[in-house]
Amino acid sequence: MSHVLNLARMAIALMLLPMAGCDLAPKPLNTKHVDEGDPTRGLALVAGGSYGCAACHAIPDVRFPKGNVGPPLAGMAGRSLIAGHLPNKPGVLVAFLQDPPALAPQTGMPNVGLTTEQARDIAAYLYTLEAPDGS
Ligand code: HEC
Repeated sequence: MSHVLNLARMAIALMLLPMAGCDLAPKPLNTKHVDEGDPTRGLALVAGGSYGCAACHAIPDVRFPKGNVGPPLAGMAGRSLIAGHLPNKPGVLVAFLQDPPALAPQTGMPNVGLTTEQARDIAAYLYTLEAPDGS
C-alpha cells in the first residue's frame, strides 16, 4: 500500500517539477522554431485564399471557409506526426508544405506551389497553434 502512495507522490512531484522551473528538469528544446519563418506572413498566406488551405482545412484564425477535406490545423504545434507518419519537425513540415506527395505519396494534399520562403512562413504560423481545440 505504502509503495502505491510513494508512486503517487512521485508522480505528483514529477508533474510539479516543470511548474517550479526546477533546473534539474530537462529544458524543452525549442524544436518548433522555423528559421526565417514569419508567422504573421504565414497567417496572411493561409487566410488569403490563393492556396486553398482553408478550403480544405479548418484553421483557427480563419473564420471562413472551414474546409473539412484534410485535418483541422488547430494544435499543429503539439501534434507528433504530419500526415500520420512523418515526424513533426520544422524541416519536415516545411518540405511537406512545399510538396506533400514527395514525402507522403498516398496523401490527399496537393502541391499548391509554395516557395520555400512561403512554406517557412506558414510553418512558423502553424507552430503558433498550440491548442488542439482551436481556442
Ligand atoms: C485539396 C485540399 C487541400 C489543400 C488545398 C491543402 N491541404 Fe493540407 N492537407 C490536405 C489533406 C487531405 C491532408 C491529410 C494528408 C494526409 O494525412 O496524408 C492535409 C494535411 C495537411 C497538414 C498535415 C496535418 C496533419 O495533422 O497531418 C498540414 C500542416 C496542412 N495540410 C497544411 C496545409 C496548408 C498550410 C495548406 C495551404 C498552403 C494546405 N494544407 C492546403 C488537403 C489539403
